[in-house]
Amino acid sequence: MDLAVYARIKEAIRTLLDINLDHYKDEQMRRRLDSWLARSGSASWDDYFARLKKEPAELTKFRDYLTINVTEFFRDFDRWKSVKESILPNLLKESLGMRALGSGVRIWSAGCSIGAEPFSFAMLLDELAPQRKHYIWATDLDRGALAKAQAGGPFTTEEMQNVTPKQKEAYFRPGGPPYFVNSNIVRKITFKEHNLLSDPTETDFDMVVCRNVVIYFTTETKDMLYRKFHAALRPGGIMFVGGTEIIPRPQEIGFRSTGFSFYVKV
Ligand SMILES: C[S@@+](CC[C@H](N)C(=O)[O-])C[C@H]1O[C@@H](n2cnc3c(N)ncnc32)[C@H](O)[C@@H]1O
Repeated sequence: MDLAVYARIKEAIRTLLDINLDHYKDEQMRRRLDSWLARSGSASWDDYFARLKKEPAELTKFRDYLTINVTEFFRDFDRWKSVKESILPNLLKESLGMRALGSGVRIWSAGCSIGAEPFSFAMLLDELAPQRKHYIWATDLDRGALAKAQAGGPFTTEEMQNVTPKQKEAYFRPGGPPYFVNSNIVRKITFKEHNLLSDPTETDFDMVVCRNVVIYFTTETKDMLYRKFHAALRPGGIMFVGGTEIIPRPQEIGFRSTGFSFYVKV
């Protein structure tokens, strides 16, 4: 697709879906759009956009494709092992002296997709400190993904591969596949439709988790987002990034690396 066509498509996507593709890596997005049009069966982008205006279900599918909401519970299991064995226990200890009696940790799952990530935290916190009241803020711009999260699923067998039989028994409805987390777990999360690129954020988090979201963004946008996450954390709070992601020159933002995928706000 040439740049003039891309400019026109970007404008149409901004109008129809309120997604600004200027923040996304150009070449990768153009390739993705080409292959989507080829698979759609429409002869041209004009035909496809005319169809999108008439078919809300197709619009949802297109939004899902653009925002890419692949996920699973305890994604990159070894990192979650560190979360359970050292990161969360430390944060739980630190927060004791900082917050009101009985309250727990504050976690923001940014780009939470259909909820597997915030639900993973809810399970671990229930295992580690069930008596305390934790706050998990889970945000995404994809309304369809959030609706699924708020319904507790459905989740596929692949998405469940790192869930232990004990967790399945304790935190999921009986039966499946497909699987649904039970309403006690859903109730522990505050879901919100939220665009990372433009909406204001809550603050004073012990941990911000943004995994497999910024990979699609330009270097400038990534930098802007890591500064935003830094501002949302309390000093000493932890930034948890995706398995293949790194924050380049973290010290310039005010982070110090503390093991693969983890940074502490200094
Ligand atoms: C690949 S999923 C990652 C899900 C989860 N964090 C994980 O690692 O399993 C990426 C998510 O980022 C969301 N996303 C993309 N751009 C976003 C934006 N500008 N604001 C908020 N969420 C966004 C998508 O809707 C999608 O659900």
